[in-house]
Amino acid sequence: MSKPFYLTTPLYYVNDVPHVGHTYTTIIGDAIARYHRLCGNAVCYLTGTDEHGQKIERAAAARGVSAENLTDRNAEVFQQIWLRLGIGYDEFIRTTQPRHHRAVKAIYERIREAGFIYLGEYSGQYCVRCELFVAGEGSACPDCGSPTEFITEQSYFFKLSAFQEKLLNFYRDNPTFVVPQTRMNEVISFVKGGLKDLSISRTSFRWGIPIPDDPDHIFYVWFDALNGYLSGIGFGDEAGSQRFEQLWPAEVQLMGKDILRFHAVYWPAFLMAAGLEPPRQLLVHGWWTIEGQKMSKSVGNFITAEALCEALPNDYIRYFLLREIPLGADGNFSYEGLIGRINSDLANDLGNLCNRTLTMIDNYFEGRIPESAGLESRDEELIRFTKETVELYRDSFDRLQLNKALENVWELISVCNKYIVANEPWNLAKEPAKRERLASVLYNSAEALRIAGVLLSPIVPDGVTAILRQLGSDRTAEQQTLGDLNWGGLEPETPLGTIEVIYPRLDKQEFLRRTAGEAPPQSQPQSSGQSNQPAPEERITIDDFARVEMRVGKVLEAERVPKSDKLLRLIVDIGSEKRQVVAGIAGAYDPAELPGRLVVLVTNLKPARLMGLESNGMIVAASGEGGPVLATFTEPVRVGTRLT
Ligand code: ME8
Ligand code: MG
Repeated sequence: MSKPFYLTTPLYYVNDVPHVGHTYTTIIGDAIARYHRLCGNAVCYLTGTDEHGQKIERAAAARGVSAENLTDRNAEVFQQIWLRLGIGYDEFIRTTQPRHHRAVKAIYERIREAGFIYLGEYSGQYCVRCELFVAGEGSACPDCGSPTEFITEQSYFFKLSAFQEKLLNFYRDNPTFVVPQTRMNEVISFVKGGLKDLSISRTSFRWGIPIPDDPDHIFYVWFDALNGYLSGIGFGDEAGSQRFEQLWPAEVQLMGKDILRFHAVYWPAFLMAAGLEPPRQLLVHGWWTIEGQKMSKSVGNFITAEALCEALPNDYIRYFLLREIPLGADGNFSYEGLIGRINSDLANDLGNLCNRTLTMIDNYFEGRIPESAGLESRDEELIRFTKETVELYRDSFDRLQLNKALENVWELISVCNKYIVANEPWNLAKEPAKRERLASVLYNSAEALRIAGVLLSPIVPDGVTAILRQLGSDRTAEQQTLGDLNWGGLEPETPLGTIEVIYPRLDKQEFLRRTAGEAPPQSQPQSSGQSNQPAPEERITIDDFARVEMRVGKVLEAERVPKSDKLLRLIVDIGSEKRQVVAGIAGAYDPAELPGRLVVLVTNLKPARLMGLESNGMIVAASGEGGPVLATFTEPVRVGTRLT
């Protein structure tokens, strides 16, 4: 038996709910997995959740729950939504599972024994949101724009610098390691620019996997999470080692362009260091914006996977996401665009082909598949086109161009619709002498429809199962095989199933009303796009502002936070109580000058933990060029007074 096809998605962070972006990646993977199952290959499709690290620890603290509680709850949300979307993953790895902890330690030990680990010291600006030390002196993360923190700590290092040549040779020998090509080129030029050793442990938080023999150190979350691709298939587990040997290396690893460097540089280097093969291919897809904007909760255009499922049948979501953009390109999600696409392709083109073919067989042949009575040149043309489509479709899928594969099928649907119009079966039906011709035309239409259905089974399985049932089959989309793509599979005399509309049209007004509140804001007319005014929906109301409680505070105590160059721990009196606040102002203020000083404190923020200390409020400061400048008062004011 040939090697099973092992395919992965990223392991998603559990601090957030699954949204359109995660849905996109996971649906691409599901379609590829289904295609390989259709082709008769054994498949292992892995997805999962990335559950350790400071980001998760803080998200839990901000919600007032334990990290275990948060991760258990949210990992379940991810699993449930994938099932609901019809995503048949074979393996779900959670990085908090014992099998994963064992595997990470085992990999680490292999890399250490090979001589690629040493203890050193690291300092730099760290972005908690991206779990990444960022280059340069700037205080904002170049990737996500969040403020970074200066951190110095002892750390275990991975000798990434030793892999520069090996990686470049590997890319040279495997020019399609990263697709699309432009992404491969980015990676090559990054590596040519030089590789520094990589810090792979942290001492600033506890929520993670401790390093063997030095448990004060916790594995850096990327070292931890990437190894989920191995732990999920049995690495480091005696009972699972055979499965691992059979499945590794992965055929395709899917991801968005945001995490390319981790996968294309660090990941193969870790694997080489451990004496394992890199994956065969990384498929890097583009980025979805919503109505032309970055998806964000504050802009109010955040679309969760759950909202999608509430609003639309699975097939509509799957079809739109896979059809709308070529793999690799960025795309814009809008409900209006989706409605247009669904109505024209699924409801009109495919829906009409189904409906007219089945209804005519029902009317003219008592609902039984007629028998073809010989081929005319038009029929031969249709059969040839169908066979060609199967070839083109397989080629598109093998090159992972899913939207191209769909275009191929839609050409067949369109050719078949034209075939029906050209043969005018409704007129043939009027003349008893043409009954054989009528039978042939309807058999051929039904057969082309069936084959189009089999081709679509990886993409829109629910509708395909319904089409096949109406054509009299009792086999679902999942039960189709390559043999079902051969012309002539429909058995004459088979009784049709009940004829029903498979893809109802979406009514735009009704749809937008129904999803109001979840729907993204409507796009602005082009002319207002250039103005410096914020778009109206970016302004907030007085009620929004009133939700932020700011009070006059007086600093009672101030001291440096150990091991941090940036943070001060303050005790601030706000009249009704005294608060501990951790503020990133150590670079600009000497703690000795602060006691007695009046400050503005945001008092109703959820508490956060910084360097292990709870921070209960945020000091308001201007982000000046030379560092933060505290807001204060020039006239006398009572401590605790609210700012409005
Ligand atoms: O990065 N458009 O997890 P994550 C398209 N835990 N795809 C998007 C998207 C968008 N707007 N937003 C997210 C992590 N994605 C790490 C991965 S792997 C060992 C660790 C998809 O929850 C896309 O696949 O931030 C992207 O790479 C991934 O979600 C990031 O998910
Ligand atoms: Mg992310």
